[in-house]
Amino acid sequence: MVRILELEEYAKKNNIPIMEHDGIEFLLSFIKDNNVKRVLEIGSAIGYSAIRMCLVNDDITVTTIERDEIRYKEAIKNIKKFNLESRINIIFSDAFDVLLDDKYDLIFIDAAKSQYIKFFEKFKLNLNKNGVIISDNLNFHGLTHTKDEIKSRNVRGIVRKLNNYIDFLKDNKEFDTAFYDIGDGISISKRKN
Ligand SMILES: C[S@@+](CC[C@H](N)C(=O)[O-])C[C@H]1O[C@@H](n2cnc3c(N)ncnc32)[C@H](O)[C@@H]1O
Repeated sequence: MVRILELEEYAKKNNIPIMEHDGIEFLLSFIKDNNVKRVLEIGSAIGYSAIRMCLVNDDITVTTIERDEIRYKEAIKNIKKFNLESRINIIFSDAFDVLLDDKYDLIFIDAAKSQYIKFFEKFKLNLNKNGVIISDNLNFHGLTHTKDEIKSRNVRGIVRKLNNYIDFLKDNKEFDTAFYDIGDGISISKRKN
């Protein structure tokens, strides 16, 4: 487990936003309990969550997309350190430029918060019949619940878009969504029967 700690330390030192501890544990339990085998992740950063998901079981594979070159290169190094090159397919691209034919049991959205509705609409086409879409950061450090005035215009914009995403999930005709106040706020969306 030392090497996982090293990734966490690197992320902290270099201000790389990786999943919070409670959030990742929740995600890993979900994968284990639901026998998830094929994962698509939007937002790899340095490969931390992709590696952790693969380590749940030997037969899990992850396709993960990252648009930042420095993070992508760091992820490549980390994936190699864990000998997971054959199970993690990392794509260096903006997720909106990626066309995938494959279907996945779990699609994990953990990228630009202002684009969540667009990620959801694009990648739901890659979901297996009984698959789920999990989204992280819905609380945005508690800011999506705050009644206080948010000073930064940029942050206000992200909070508004995340709240739009939450409403989009609540009103969705095709998917049912459960919301969890775990980590930075997680949702799990399943296709209605
Ligand atoms: C929160 S971090 C991902 C953390 C990672 N899932 C983990 O927990 O280890 C979000 C990442 O998404 C990437 N990203 C944001 N928008 C993207 C897009 N449209 N396409 C690909 N990557 C994107 C960012 O560069 C950033 O590294």
